[in-house]
Amino acid sequence: MIPFRSKRIVYAFSIILIIIVVYNFGYYNAEKKYASHTISTESLIQISAGVDVLSTAVPILKPEQTNAEFIAAPSTIESSKQKPTVVHLAVVLSLSSQTSHIAEFYLLYESWRFLQNFSPLSQQIVVDLIVFCEQPSCHQLPSACIPLSYKKNIDLIATCFHEILDEKIVQKWSDYLYMTSIEFMLTKEYRKATVDYDWILRVDQDAVISPGLLIGLARKHPRKLYPMQFGGIGHGVTFTKNRLRDIAKKLGYNHSGIHDLCSTWLVNPKDSVKIANLTTIIGRHFLENEFGTHVPGIESLPAIGEWPKWWRGVTSLYAAEIAINHIYSSTLGQQHESPAIDTPSFAESSIWNAWHIHCLHNEDYFSKFKHRDELHKFVGSKQTDRMQQILNVTSRDKILFKTLREFETIKVNYNINESKVSVRDYVTALAWKKSYSATAAINLD
Ligand SMILES: *[C@@H]1O[C@H](CO)[C@@H](O)[C@H](O)[C@H]1NC(C)=O
Ligand SMILES: *[C@@H]1O[C@H](CO)[C@@H](O)[C@H](O)[C@H]1NC(C)=O
Ligand SMILES: *[C@@H]1O[C@H](CO)[C@@H](O)[C@H](O)[C@H]1NC(C)=O
Ligand SMILES: *[C@@H]1O[C@H](CO)[C@@H](O)[C@H](O)[C@H]1NC(C)=O
Repeated sequence: MIPFRSKRIVYAFSIILIIIVVYNFGYYNAEKKYASHTISTESLIQISAGVDVLSTAVPILKPEQTNAEFIAAPSTIESSKQKPTVVHLAVVLSLSSQTSHIAEFYLLYESWRFLQNFSPLSQQIVVDLIVFCEQPSCHQLPSACIPLSYKKNIDLIATCFHEILDEKIVQKWSDYLYMTSIEFMLTKEYRKATVDYDWILRVDQDAVISPGLLIGLARKHPRKLYPMQFGGIGHGVTFTKNRLRDIAKKLGYNHSGIHDLCSTWLVNPKDSVKIANLTTIIGRHFLENEFGTHVPGIESLPAIGEWPKWWRGVTSLYAAEIAINHIYSSTLGQQHESPAIDTPSFAESSIWNAWHIHCLHNEDYFSKFKHRDELHKFVGSKQTDRMQQILNVTSRDKILFKTLREFETIKVNYNINESKVSVRDYVTALAWKKSYSATAAINLD
């Protein structure tokens, strides 16, 4: 009994001793660390407190800086003395109350979350998500999407925000609901929330963010980062293009001859408001004056037009084309139509070539429509079959891990040529991952 007790006392003493040693060692180290920590704290303070300065003072953000300049930047010794630079981008979108749209948003959300795994770039490029949601869809967002009113300052942690889409906007565009996905950018809530960002990426809810975006914004991507860039996907014929140029002229806008701009914009916050403003004004003109059998030149077409010649369904693209061509009329060129933006979700090219992916309205895999059907089948099947299917396709998980491993190689010298994961496989893997976790979370059985 006694030996045991004394053993316990010795044991207790050694533990206390170890704790003291460890504590002191830790304290000593903390002090030592403190010296270098101070430096980084200071620079962090500069970043968060000097938010207003950020968009002008930080070298990495200067739009006119070219990739060539970046490559020729000072050697590592000098650049290690530079303050850490953080680029802030907001992915912005409006979300309708359509259930399919909400489901599509969850894929965008999943891709946004996955972006956080690409350290150190995910710390240098902070990507927020800002959703203007038509009720009741705000209630169906992930809990991490906090109200936009909670956003005080630009932060170093990527955050998802939501704001209720004003019912008046929905009513205003009841004849063409898609325009709400542009009009929300004119609200004072949007303008206030986005003013401090360096970049705005305006997307549709069926978008997927590629980790290539981080490389692009760090100006380490083979594709140059311009002060503005747009997706380019054909949606018209020669008739369309001529007609759009004529309408621009008629309305007094300059058209720089850049056609087939798709719906995604990567621009600065001020420009995003300008483009949205002009697009809604021109869009209203189109809806009122440019469709119908009474309109000269299209008398033979149905009232809603005829795809792809002249089609009411893409009014927002027509209007945005004229707005963008006018606003940037002195500088806009073919180079601003980026293949890294609006990359189709069926692309077999490398995920690292894409910055932004768009799930288009077609049946090519990855197809949002086919995925929806497969998912219905999955949800309707027996639990044992579901288990079997999940086990059958664990290779999809491997795609995501492979992407992370590829990044380990890529981040050494930003040579993306060796990468193998395709856009299609990446999107498919993410889509099933979100579906498996969602069905697991609600315990279907
Ligand atoms: C939109 O443009 C009009 C006309 O140029 C201007 O009066 C209005 O203030 C603009 N609105 C916003 C939100 O910028
Ligand atoms: C439109 O073009 C005219 C003539 O080239 C030019 O004077 C004017 O500044 C342009 N407008 C814009 C908004 O760039
Ligand atoms: C699993 O894969 C096997 C072979 O590829 C296939 O025959 C089977 O139908 C699959 N099972 C499910 C549930 O998908
Ligand atoms: C990657 O491939 C492209 C096109 O084949 C080539 O022009 C470029 O030099 C390559 N980059 C590197 C770093 O090897």
